[in-house]
Amino acid sequence: MNDYKNITTEEILSLISQSNLPEHVAIIMDGNGRWAKQRRLPRISGHKVGMDSVREVITFSREIGIKVLTLYAFSQENWKRPQAEVKALMRLLQEYLRKELKTMTEKGIRFRAIGETEKLPPAAQDIINNAIEETSKNKDLILNVALSYGGRSEIIEAVKKVLTDIENGKVSADGLDEAVFENYLNTSGLPDPDLLIRTSGEKRISNFLLWQSAYTEFYFTDTLWPDFRKKDMLLAILDYQQRERRFGLTREQIRRGLDAI
Ligand code: FPP
Repeated sequence: MNDYKNITTEEILSLISQSNLPEHVAIIMDGNGRWAKQRRLPRISGHKVGMDSVREVITFSREIGIKVLTLYAFSQENWKRPQAEVKALMRLLQEYLRKELKTMTEKGIRFRAIGETEKLPPAAQDIINNAIEETSKNKDLILNVALSYGGRSEIIEAVKKVLTDIENGKVSADGLDEAVFENYLNTSGLPDPDLLIRTSGEKRISNFLLWQSAYTEFYFTDTLWPDFRKKDMLLAILDYQQRERRFGLTREQIRRGLDAI
């Protein structure tokens, strides 16, 4: 990747091709704690500034024409963090939804949640369910927030539901294929992510969208989440657009077009 440090946001924007945008972008928002530590602030300050990044990335995703944005806001493992931090994160989520519901409605943003949302505090569940209902007709951008989410348990839960449906005769074991199985995942109805971004220099998937990321392009940046803004998102999209996605085919097949298969 070229060095784009000295290039302006507008210049990067002019390099982006509208016809090859990722339809679904997923983000592992990491580094809030380290951002705060570098400034000798409590970890929660990092999460608070991280919310500004969340807002900016959502606004920009809608503006540029991304159709689905999935944010990893809280993993199943995050419950083990100090209780004060867990509470603060739940509070931030509720504050965000309370404050931004009107804007989401006006801007055509449809809110969705994946994960074990039934484990969240009842007040958070109410706000989430309300946001899902109020925005259900919106069409511009699907904002999909992963809460108490874990990829492996999502797959196990899907398998359990499939087994029940096989027992009840709703599905036959022979008829079970990838397309059918996908209907049992939390992301049912959504396209797989084209691009997955992880901030803060860590290079792992951390139990996020394990099934769905089979052919996803990964982009890792050292930028900490509270510093990740529109320009960083544009750089990720530009990097994505410079890649050749082959889905297991040869380069020649891709060049000749799918007719050549
Ligand atoms: C990772 O940083 C960040 C989180 C675990 C939480 C991110 C959540 C938000 C910003 C709130 C999301 C709300 C909505 C509405 C999407 P870390 O604490 O793991 O950082 P560290 O690795 O530097 O300690």
